[in-house]
Amino acid sequence: MKSVTCSGPVNIAVIKYWGKKDEKLITPLNDSISVTLSQDELRAKTTVTLSETYAEDKIWLNGIEEPISNPRLQACLREIRARAQTQHGSIPAGCVQIVSENNFPTAAGLASSAAGYACLVFALSRLYDVSGDISAVARQGSGSACRSVLGGFVRWRAGERPDGTDSLAEQVAPASHWPDLHCLILIACHDRKKVASTSGMSRTAETSELMRARLEGLPARLTAITTAIEQRDFPAFAELTMRDSNQLHAVCQDTYPPIRYMTDVSHAVVETVHTYNRLLGGMRACYTFDAGPNACIYLPAAEVGPFLAAVARVFPPPDPACWVTGRSVELPQLPEELAAELQPRIPGGVQGVIHTAVGDGPRLLEQTE
Ligand code: DP6
Repeated sequence: MKSVTCSGPVNIAVIKYWGKKDEKLITPLNDSISVTLSQDELRAKTTVTLSETYAEDKIWLNGIEEPISNPRLQACLREIRARAQTQHGSIPAGCVQIVSENNFPTAAGLASSAAGYACLVFALSRLYDVSGDISAVARQGSGSACRSVLGGFVRWRAGERPDGTDSLAEQVAPASHWPDLHCLILIACHDRKKVASTSGMSRTAETSELMRARLEGLPARLTAITTAIEQRDFPAFAELTMRDSNQLHAVCQDTYPPIRYMTDVSHAVVETVHTYNRLLGGMRACYTFDAGPNACIYLPAAEVGPFLAAVARVFPPPDPACWVTGRSVELPQLPEELAAELQPRIPGGVQGVIHTAVGDGPRLLEQTE
């Protein structure tokens, strides 16, 4: 019997993946770029155990047994075992049991499948002693998962080959390159999302005319944000991030029938960020939204307290004492000009905040034989 426990990070894209070239291989229509978040606050944790006494593969997610027949899960298992066979000439006998849990709300737009599949594939690669790039395997679990196999700032190259072998993740810069970049997840709602990203993006690719314009503009945006990351140029990074999120949700609106992930709370967060930047001068915080209502705010460490004071003003928290989790932060008094313009709007609209920052790739926590 051999057992491996690993943890894997969440990533939140700043240039989004939306639309597939190949539904089965999960290759994207465009390159995307993301930031891997610290596992100290958000992580998937997976234990994989291989034993000759197990008659079949099994999986439990957050304590509930799920069907192992899931084609994406099967693709990951098959690919890791095929690599083990090629690298070692044989694979150990027996089946695997997989136990995985997240420490954050599943399917609320928080990229839980990305952390989960990246962690699973990393753990399986250790269990079967498989070396080499594993992003193409994680990609077959969930597209965005391929970016969670690396830390820091990550680009997923769409690739050109029809078999998807060049559709891989690569690191733009490690986490240590920009430790001052912090992240706040503003939880607008704990509910499961209504239109899953998989079906949402295929509907957009089939029906949205604006999608063509998005794809034409993306190469320039990808180049610009890579430069912004390399130069730690927050104002450029922030504007490109917000524009890309806005465009993603515009093509969702242009999808037929339309898809709406952002709620009134999400839009009020957008307005709060722009008002905060305008009144304090310069680019101090930016937002991005995935396929759900929660906002991901990227901002320099020094802005975390003042920005949260502004958010608390617009969305008075039900219980201020336990509103922010993760890294600790002091909320200062809101400057008068901000307090005057930012009036309380939606009490309890932001149910909670997770304060985190850029982080590393998957970690091996424990290995026993
Ligand atoms: C909005 O990776 O969840 O978060 O490949 O079908 O599993 P599948 O989709 P998924 O889509 C993520 C979409 C997004 C943008 C992004 O992370 O780039």
